[in-house]
Amino acid sequence: MPIETTAAVVAEVPHDAELLAVPYSSDLIPALPFDLPVPVAGLLAHHEAKGEPGEIVEVPVTRGDAVGRVLLYGVGDASQKALRKAAAGLTRKAKGRASLAVVVPDGDVAAFAEAALLAAYTFKIGAPGKTPVGTLTLVTSDEQAVRRGRRIAEAVALARDLANMPASVKNPAWLAERAAEQGVPVRVWDEEQLQAGGFGGILAVGRGSASPPRLIQLSYTPDSYDKHVVLVGKGITFDSGGLSLKPTDNMKTQKTDMAGGAVVIAVIGALASLGARVRVTGLIASAENMPSGTAQRPSDVITHYGGRTVEVLNTDAEGRLVLADALAYADSELDPDAVVDIATLTGAISVALGRNIGAVYSSDDELAEALVSAGRSSDDRLWRMPLIDDYAPALESSIADLANVESGSRFGAGSITAALFLREFAGKRPWAHLDIAGVGRSTVDEGILTKGATGFGVRVLLDWLTNS
Ligand code: BES
Ligand code: MN
Ligand code: ZN
Repeated sequence: MPIETTAAVVAEVPHDAELLAVPYSSDLIPALPFDLPVPVAGLLAHHEAKGEPGEIVEVPVTRGDAVGRVLLYGVGDASQKALRKAAAGLTRKAKGRASLAVVVPDGDVAAFAEAALLAAYTFKIGAPGKTPVGTLTLVTSDEQAVRRGRRIAEAVALARDLANMPASVKNPAWLAERAAEQGVPVRVWDEEQLQAGGFGGILAVGRGSASPPRLIQLSYTPDSYDKHVVLVGKGITFDSGGLSLKPTDNMKTQKTDMAGGAVVIAVIGALASLGARVRVTGLIASAENMPSGTAQRPSDVITHYGGRTVEVLNTDAEGRLVLADALAYADSELDPDAVVDIATLTGAISVALGRNIGAVYSSDDELAEALVSAGRSSDDRLWRMPLIDDYAPALESSIADLANVESGSRFGAGSITAALFLREFAGKRPWAHLDIAGVGRSTVDEGILTKGATGFGVRVLLDWLTNS
């Protein structure tokens, strides 16, 4: 379990907590159940504490014969954003302690609990690393909100775990096994079945690897529903670039190139306990992109599910090849009301949007707005990017229906042209594409983020699917 912290909920401030956190802001001076060495207002003034989120003033207090500690923590305007920051700061501060009790302020209790737990996430193989706080006791009357926040944090943590796992352990078959643990029906296509089904993109990308590719389908079906959504995730368990080999520095982060697929697995696993009333089918197009004597070559022409041909000019533009098969399959066989794919697709998107906000492309204004708005309320922020038709000629090929990359540099816009490529396979249904290459990994331990995989996409998709 990646979040080793357990969350308990109580209604009354526990008098025996080793570490007790109490909120304050410029207009909220806490009343404490015991005496401080100096009155609260004076203490805060002494520390020049303004009540901003992230601010924590640590005060020793007498507890019978022992010394306890109170953490006075700022909550700012108590907005959801401020509460997330305050909560994450608290668990970070309490790292290594056995227990922390937190008096939860009024506001979005689910977001508070979620952020507190996510900040306690760790991933370490071998001897345990810096351990998070053991027990987090939240003092609140809203037990249901805490349960929701915890469930979401656990789903994010699962997505992070899958993506942080080294590719020596994680191959397409391993990913299929993890999908089968989510409590919903799973169907897996092995190499032969992919061949028989005509999934030429997934097969081409997987050809260079000793670990064969898989297409993984998960089905969440609630008792009643009137909408069917298909989620498609990129599941490249390692992206070396293939024969268009990546340089070492770019390659060493590429075990997380299945982050989109991990998000799809984690989201579907969480839908039942969050009471989602939408039918959701997940598809993870999984392969390992490796160079070898059996690998596809730059200049090969492949045939995708549905019959469209693609000239592979760069084997490192492999994500779009595996996704194309899954998108075409969803359109032709699953009859969805909407399709959303999620993928660490292009380095170019981190040039455009950086590491804190993900890209959404969509052919459908309503779907785009719903996702952007779910991004805002869930804290997985999204920015809509244009599917500008002017750039479509970038992907023309003289010998196939399409090329997988632009052969020159007239158009540029690497993330947009990748999205335009996918659009060709999504059909006429409402479709959106999330490019999470910039936000899928963190380089810092900060707030709710831990270095490595972020699980970006779990919160926005769960928000969207449980509010529609
Ligand atoms: N998996 C990469 C994208 C990526 C880059 C994800 C950095 C996370 C961090 C993707 O398969 C890729 O290699 N894209 C190429 C596309 C290019 C060949 C058109 C890229 O971005 O360089
Ligand atoms: Mn690549
Ligand atoms: Zn890739």
